Amino acid sequence: MEVKVVSNSEAGSQLAYEMIRHALEDGAEVFGLATGSTPERVYQLLSESDVDFSQSISVNLDEYVGLPADHPQSYHHYMQKKLFNAKPFKHSFIPNGMNTEAEEIENYNQILEENPVDLQLLGIGTNGHIAFNEPGTPFDILTHKVELTESTIQANKRYFESEADVPRYAYSMGLASIMKADKIILLAFGESKAQAIKDLVTAQAVDPLIPSTVLINHPDVTIIADEAAAKLI
Ligand code: F6R
Repeated sequence: MEVKVVSNSEAGSQLAYEMIRHALEDGAEVFGLATGSTPERVYQLLSESDVDFSQSISVNLDEYVGLPADHPQSYHHYMQKKLFNAKPFKHSFIPNGMNTEAEEIENYNQILEENPVDLQLLGIGTNGHIAFNEPGTPFDILTHKVELTESTIQANKRYFESEADVPRYAYSMGLASIMKADKIILLAFGESKAQAIKDLVTAQAVDPLIPSTVLINHPDVTIIADEAAAKLI
């Protein structure tokens, strides 16, 4: 695991942008993408660049259960607005929040099998979650339906009109799905991520209560943290 501490989120986003750009130039075809506030600037930089994803595939980490693709808070909508409108991919896959659990698990696992991820971009939750793999999620799990924890609902309610509108479930790539990526970049910006970054960077062994620690067994992980997120390491 390589940890790159940068002065602020702008520098971190620039670095991630460069790494994605180089991966594409080096032949990466399948990009694993995350939503949330952390990668927004990276997507903006990509959108404003001359990067061409028209021959690339994207697979997203997760989607809320029960939100249709055109719902303004769906991750489909987020990706469309933040990246895909400016930079269309040959094909973009995001879990379908309107499918039943059984349908979507089968569907998304097949998509991931047919489109192995070359480069996976990740954020991290304040509780150490990656994608929607909350503390206690088994490390060997593939796509699954997740009940969001209270801390994740609290963190995500800012995007909804009221807390009651935040979906309680999501479909998420599992920890084992994420570990299949060739290369992983995890971004963490801001003081609220400091404990999660400390827990990950100082982990001596995987800890089921800190899902991100699964990454210590991956051969190619780069953590890009700004000084605020790195302040406890
Ligand atoms: C989003 C995702 C989540 C976020 C995490 C951090 O697709 O999988 O794990 O990366 O919740 O969210 P932000 O970036 O909003 O702090």
